[in-house]
Amino acid sequence: MGRAMLPIFLIMAITILFAMYNTVTIMVSQYEESPKRADFEDEGESSFANPMLKTHKKLLRDNDGFHLQKQKKKRFFHVAVTASDSPYSRWQCRVMYYWYKQFRNRPGSEMGGFTRILHSGRPDNLMNEIPTVVVKELPQGMDQGYVVLNRPWAFVQWLENATFHEEYVMMAEPDHIFVRPLPNLATEQLPAAFQFSYIQPSKHENVVRKFFPQHMGPVSWIDRIGNSPTIIKRSQLEKIAPTWMNISLHMKNDPEADETFGWVLEMYAYAVASAIHGIKHVIRKEFMIQPPWDLEVAENFMIHYTYGCDYTMQGALTYGKVGEWRFDKRSYVLGAPPRNLSLPPPGVPESVVTLVKMVNEATANIPNWQEGS
Ligand SMILES: *[C@@H]1O[C@H](CO)[C@@H](O)[C@H](O)[C@H]1NC(C)=O
Ligand SMILES: *[C@@H]1O[C@H](CO)[C@@H](O)[C@H](O)[C@H]1NC(C)=O
Ligand SMILES: *[C@@H]1O[C@H](CO)[C@@H](O)[C@H](O)[C@H]1NC(C)=O
Repeated sequence: MGRAMLPIFLIMAITILFAMYNTVTIMVSQYEESPKRADFEDEGESSFANPMLKTHKKLLRDNDGFHLQKQKKKRFFHVAVTASDSPYSRWQCRVMYYWYKQFRNRPGSEMGGFTRILHSGRPDNLMNEIPTVVVKELPQGMDQGYVVLNRPWAFVQWLENATFHEEYVMMAEPDHIFVRPLPNLATEQLPAAFQFSYIQPSKHENVVRKFFPQHMGPVSWIDRIGNSPTIIKRSQLEKIAPTWMNISLHMKNDPEADETFGWVLEMYAYAVASAIHGIKHVIRKEFMIQPPWDLEVAENFMIHYTYGCDYTMQGALTYGKVGEWRFDKRSYVLGAPPRNLSLPPPGVPESVVTLVKMVNEATANIPNWQEGS
């Protein structure tokens, strides 16, 4: 018998080997390309376009070994922005996403894909403009009117099913504007975060101790940060997020903690939750500037426009008092600002001028931008 069967076995063996080789090749090339998923998102093409084909085209374009080698060493992070479907949140997300797209493929960037985590429980009108995942709102009454409690809950839900390939996540907010390509500021061990002067766990030791008991360590172990901006390994965030959620709700239900932490309660909750898991952050001052207090963009990576910028026509800051010239995101709670906002008068810091110019550039180039929408 042996003689007749041998050629058939050989053919079968070769076929199997060939099939395995192909499968492995496809898997390897997908793996190598995965961090560059963003390259074929949002090029105005449908998300149903064949990613392998587009990846292949891009490979041909970039086919100089050096370029590919450099790409491999990168530690990409997935940019994740929690947002609601309010007009206020929507226009800020559009501006933010615009600037992300401008910088993600520039030299020095380790920005991977982008997800807007929409925690309003239903799709809105930006689903085709910004890559978005819809998650559920907190059950009615649970947020007690404090809408940002939705942030931890949004991350918990998103991480449960998210299919992104980057090893790291950047948690960001809609009022962040990238001003240059952002590298991965985290280390292999330590996530990167921004220190906020108003987060002071040591000053509120009595309250903090309710959630971070003595046996867990000194209060000074708690970083003076919030969840955003942070670049963190997905595996680390998966540990912290459920605790962050739990601590937020417990703090909100504790009248003393609620009163002490006020509008930054969910930031304290993140800081405490990460300390509970023994995860310290490396503080990166260069993460962002906050006009009008920081005067120059310099070598920093983002502008966070959370504070109002009010000035006299002589360029004097009138913080807290409506200025003759102003840019304040809260002027546009009900709908988007118009295109072409007036630039500040002479004497206003470069950071503020850059902010308004960048908002203008985004609104000029985003299709169908409409004031008040
Ligand atoms: C995750 O996916 C499962 C299965 O499709 C689904 O039942 C669950 O609701 C999803 N979770 C979230 C938070 O979307
Ligand atoms: C949730 O937080 C409370 C208050 O800090 C704590 O007592 C409880 O053990 C936590 N539960 C979980 C599941 O982490
Ligand atoms: C923007 O507004 C300025 C006046 O503030 C005007 O001179 C300029 O032409 C406008 N640009 C566009 C593109 O509308």
